[in-house]
Amino acid sequence: MADKEGNIDAKDFGIGIPQKSEHFFLKGNANVDWGMKDRLSRIFNPKSGHSVMLAFDHGFIMGPTSGLERMDLTIVPLIEYSDCIMCTRGALRSIVPPTCCKPISYRFDAGTSILTDLNDQCLQDIEEAVRLNVSMLAVMVAVGDPNHEGITVRNLSKTVDMGVRYGIPTLGVTAVGKNLVRDARYLGLATRICAENGAQVIKTYFCEEKFEQVTNACPVPIVIAGGKKLPEAEALQMAWRAIDQGASGVDMGRNIFQAEAPIGMIKAVRMIVHDGATPEQAYDFYQTWKNENK
Ligand code: R5P
Repeated sequence: MADKEGNIDAKDFGIGIPQKSEHFFLKGNANVDWGMKDRLSRIFNPKSGHSVMLAFDHGFIMGPTSGLERMDLTIVPLIEYSDCIMCTRGALRSIVPPTCCKPISYRFDAGTSILTDLNDQCLQDIEEAVRLNVSMLAVMVAVGDPNHEGITVRNLSKTVDMGVRYGIPTLGVTAVGKNLVRDARYLGLATRICAENGAQVIKTYFCEEKFEQVTNACPVPIVIAGGKKLPEAEALQMAWRAIDQGASGVDMGRNIFQAEAPIGMIKAVRMIVHDGATPEQAYDFYQTWKNENK
């Protein structure tokens, strides 16, 4: 309670000492609002500047993908090793313990499945995202898809507007059209379109050649999806090459939860993303962990 008398006089004004003003660590996000910076700082580690996101939203278009049949058994044990989880509201409410205290990259669009024509998406209600206390809104953008490019870019734009209103960053997820090649030219175009339309973070694929041109031409952080399951050594090699060429992290699903030893794999990915391990060191760790935890 405030006292009218007996207060100690304020005298430590730090005269002559300029007020400390922290530089924000995350590429292209120096001018976003405080709440958005707070959310981004929980997704990306301010020390390494990087993030290991665990993606398990595949069921919303693919159904019970291998490794996701029983997410309570396969995914929940992995969550503690991630920096952020990417999932749908269905998975969140049904299997993710709220006590896990991880930032949520929330699948904010919904639409067609692999059985029909992908990417015909609508958006959810922003109040649902706020109610679920999510840290990022993930929206698919199908650049080059003649039927859905316009819908998905408009979805991204609307999501950015809603996210800015509530201090929630938007993750632009570049979809891949049937006739589009995942090369640096296409990925550079798709990621740049997401960034120019306001996404604060972009998720895309790694490409074998000139990936550094994709990251350099994108003014905000890029995280890579893992894509289809690769042998573990190759997946670690890909993660290392992506980070080495300017990615700010991974948003990986199948190459973690379909690995022979998923916990060993996510730990090995962390070594690359946060600790500067080489792919060989990370793979050695993975093999040892797998053999010791049979
Ligand atoms: C794709 O739309 C989904 O967002 C997945 O989360 C994404 O593809 C990442 O998973 P994966 O590493 O298995 O490709």
